[in-house]
Amino acid sequence: MKCKRLIINILVLTVCVTATLHAQDKIYSIVTCPGENTETQMNISWAADTALTESYVIYTTAKDKKWKRAQRAATEQYMCAVFDSVYSKTPEGKNYYEDAKFLKCGARLKSLRPKTEYIYKIISGPTENATESTVHRFKTSGEKQWSAAIIADFHAYTPLPKRLEAAMGVMNKVHNYDPKMDWVLHLGDVCAWGGSYSFWKRLYVEQYFNDYMWAGVNGNHDNMTRKYLLTNEFFRNANFYPLNGYEGELGVCYFFRYGKALFVMLNNEDMRSEDGLDAAQEWVRKVVQANPAKYVVVCEHYQWFFGETGKSSQYGRWSELFDDLGVDLALSANNHVYVRTNALYQGKETDGTKGTVYVQAPSSDNERGVSCPDSLSQNTDIIKKRWTEGGQTVGAMHLSVTEKRMTLIMMNRNGEVIDEVSIPAKR
Ligand SMILES: [Fe+2]
Repeated sequence: MKCKRLIINILVLTVCVTATLHAQDKIYSIVTCPGENTETQMNISWAADTALTESYVIYTTAKDKKWKRAQRAATEQYMCAVFDSVYSKTPEGKNYYEDAKFLKCGARLKSLRPKTEYIYKIISGPTENATESTVHRFKTSGEKQWSAAIIADFHAYTPLPKRLEAAMGVMNKVHNYDPKMDWVLHLGDVCAWGGSYSFWKRLYVEQYFNDYMWAGVNGNHDNMTRKYLLTNEFFRNANFYPLNGYEGELGVCYFFRYGKALFVMLNNEDMRSEDGLDAAQEWVRKVVQANPAKYVVVCEHYQWFFGETGKSSQYGRWSELFDDLGVDLALSANNHVYVRTNALYQGKETDGTKGTVYVQAPSSDNERGVSCPDSLSQNTDIIKKRWTEGGQTVGAMHLSVTEKRMTLIMMNRNGEVIDEVSIPAKR
C-alpha cells in the first residue's frame, strides 16, 4: 500500500515538475515594470513561445494566499523578431546566431490598491492544459516612506557568468542593509549586448527580477549587438514600460511616479545630435511642468562628469535645464566611476535648499571598472566624492525617501557605506 502511494506521489511530482519546466520553456523574461502612477498601475512584461495560443497574467494581493480574489488582466502581444538571427555567443563561448523570435507580451495592471504587495503569475496554453509561471511580486507605492536599490553597468554576458553574480552579490548587500526595499532602479548597461536576447532571458531568471519592480534606462550596451547594430528596439522589447515618452522613444523614454517622486527616464543614444538633445529636453520640460511632484529625479546612462579627470560630460548639456526645472537628483552611470556632487545651482554649490545633486553609479560586474588618479584636474570645487576599485569594481546604491528628505548611500561589495548624501525636500 505504502509502495503504491509512493509511486503515485512520484508520478504527481514528475507531472508538476514537467509542467513547470514546460512553462519556463514557453514563457520567459518575466519582469515587473512601473506603470505611470505606481500607486495604482504596474506593467507586466514577458515573452511567449510563438506556438502558444494564449498567455495572460493573473494577480492578487500577497495576503490572498489561496488566490481566491485573483483577477485576470488583458494581454497585449505582437510578434517580435528584432533579436532573431543576431550574431552572439553561447554560454560556452561559441559563436552563433540567436534563434529568438517570440511573442512580446505585456499587461497594464490598473486600479491596484496603493501601499500593497501583490503576487502574480503568467498562465499559458489552452485551459485544459494550462501551465503556470513561478509567482512574481511587486509593491505599489503610496507609503510616506519608501526605498529602492540602485545598480548599473553589470554588462550581463552569459560566457562570463561571474559578472551577473557580482552584481547580484552587491544587490544582496543592499537588501541586507534594507530588507524592506520596495523596488530596483537600474541606470543602464545591464546587458553586454542588448541585441543578444539570451542575455536578457538569463538576467530575468534572477530572484531580484522575480520579487521587485524594475525601472531602468537604456545604456549604450543595451542598445547594440555584437556587430554594433544600434537600435532602441532591444530595450523596448525586453521591457514593457509606459508609453508616455516622445516620438521614436515610446516605451524607451518614460516617466512614472513612485510615491511623491517623479522619475524621468532618458535615452542617451538618441541625444548624440543637437536635434536629439533638443527633443529630449523639450520632453523633459513638458513632463516636469505637467507633473508637479515633491521630488524630481532625472535618470540617464551617460556620466555627468568623467571620473578620471573631473571634466564635465552630460552635466554641461543638462545643468541649465535642471536649474530651471528644480530637479532634485540627477542619476547616471556609464563611466564606471562613482562621482557625486552636493546640490549645484548655476554651476555653484548651494547650502542644499536649492539646486540639483548629481550622482553617477559605479560599475558592479567586478570586471570592467576604471581606475582613477588620486586627484582631479577639473571641477575640483564641485565634485565632492569619487570612488572606484579600479578594473574590478563592485558597488551599488540605496535611496530612501521620506516627506522631509531623500537619502542616497553608496556601498561597496562588502556592504560598507562609502558615501552618503541627503537631499532635503524643497517643495
Ligand atoms: Fe558600461
